[in-house]
Amino acid sequence: MTTFSALIEKRRSIRQFEKKEIPLAIVEEIIRESCLAPSARNEQPWHFIIVRDAGMLKRLSDESKGNILREIESNPDSPLSPYKEVMKVDHFNVFWDAPCVVYIVGPAHARSLEVDCALAASYFMLSATSRGLGTCWVALGSYIKDNGLRREMGLPDEFRIIAPIALGYPQMIPDVPPREAPKILKVI
Ligand SMILES: Cc1cc2nc3c(=O)[nH]c(=O)nc-3n(C[C@H](O)[C@H](O)[C@H](O)COP(=O)(O)O)c2cc1C
Repeated sequence: MTTFSALIEKRRSIRQFEKKEIPLAIVEEIIRESCLAPSARNEQPWHFIIVRDAGMLKRLSDESKGNILREIESNPDSPLSPYKEVMKVDHFNVFWDAPCVVYIVGPAHARSLEVDCALAASYFMLSATSRGLGTCWVALGSYIKDNGLRREMGLPDEFRIIAPIALGYPQMIPDVPPREAPKILKVI
């Protein structure tokens, strides 16, 4: 059994995946464990959309890239500006060509939506790691505006996308990227 310390070392953002499908039952188990995350008032606002269809994954990536480019063009000071050139690369897939993406989404009115979904996302990434899978939270895949596409992916109108998570078998697990020393302000 892996220790928790080993698990969190192994949970790295994976950007190279094997071309191997993940059984749906495994994705569902990971989602079930994600729902063990804490949430404010136990409201559990998280919902999940599992995308495994290669054509849909490409459409979602292209939609997001297009919207990011439009946002940069309308606001050159956008924090997305550093991604301008890569967004123009035709074959670049924001999900790193992962065979599956799970969108963690929820109703915009939920009072603690971002925090609760981020906690579910953490559990998701650790649960996947414990099963030998790799993940990457891909914020660049969240710019889905087209109403038709949102409907096709099963996203209700009043829902927000919080965490698109790429999921697949990792080609390799990188070392932990450098971390700053803990910023402990005071011990009293
Ligand atoms: C909110 C959030 C958004 C992220 N968005 C992206 C993204 O769009 N594309 C990507 O490749 N990685 C993305 N990442 C992954 C980070 O780059 C990664 O967590 C960081 O470099 C540290 O590496 P590690 O996850 O291996 O510890 C995101 C991570 C978080 C938490």
